[in-house]
Amino acid sequence: MIELTDIARVYGKGESAASALRGVSLAIEGGAFVRIVGTSGSGKTTLLNVIGGLDSGYTGTAVVDGKDLRAMDDRDLSRFRNETVGFVFQHFHLLEHLDARHNVALADFFTSRDGGDPLRRAAEVLERVGLGDKMGSRPSQLSGGQKQRVAVARSLFNRPRLILADEPTGNLDTRTSGQIIGLLESLNRDDQLTVVVVTHEAPLFHKATQTFRLEDGRIVGTEAE
Ligand SMILES: Nc1ncnc2c1ncn2[C@@H]1O[C@H](COP(=O)(O)OP(=O)(O)O)[C@@H](O)[C@H]1O
Ligand SMILES: [Mg+2]
Repeated sequence: MIELTDIARVYGKGESAASALRGVSLAIEGGAFVRIVGTSGSGKTTLLNVIGGLDSGYTGTAVVDGKDLRAMDDRDLSRFRNETVGFVFQHFHLLEHLDARHNVALADFFTSRDGGDPLRRAAEVLERVGLGDKMGSRPSQLSGGQKQRVAVARSLFNRPRLILADEPTGNLDTRTSGQIIGLLESLNRDDQLTVVVVTHEAPLFHKATQTFRLEDGRIVGTEAE
């Protein structure tokens, strides 16, 4: 599903250049539940951005879902981001003036898919994440955990094969974090999605097929469970 070979990423030039990734190679099978851990600044977000086609300023090769990302033109790459990948972020990225259903349905705007009524699809995915009764609520009327569920629902809208979640529990208390991780686990187990979760905290309470530990832009540990 994901095959990275010798990925390097340098931000900036000359004296201010910073190496965020220094030769990362890894393979992730379809259907895996993968955790990426490491301290702040170790390169986790950069790595996720490469996998998700959000960053193309790297060297090395990234093949995701059978596609060499560098070989894709802008149109195909944006289609890949919108239709193959679902992104979940720490800060939810919801629009305050829209209710849950419309926040989710916004995902329709970025796709060429002709998948019928976007609001009906939004309702479906909100049901899937357990928010069937909150469709008309705005972000300000939702708890942190509920907001993150809306964001997960939005990531599911275009039926992705891969979910990339960057510190999805970074703004949540421990109990709510457990519920969000549980939701991601169930998407992996029941809906056969490949899930890659970045967590700043070391051992979070969930099972993972594989754990990669990053340190200073390098993978320093791989654990299979
Ligand atoms: N846009 C950027 N410009 C310059 N340096 C960056 C940028 N993004 C990240 N970095 C640097 O790259 C390194 C890795 O960052 P990041 O991938 O965000 O790590 P993490 O997500 O593990 O905290 C850090 O040293 C960070 O300061
Ligand atoms: Mg980060």
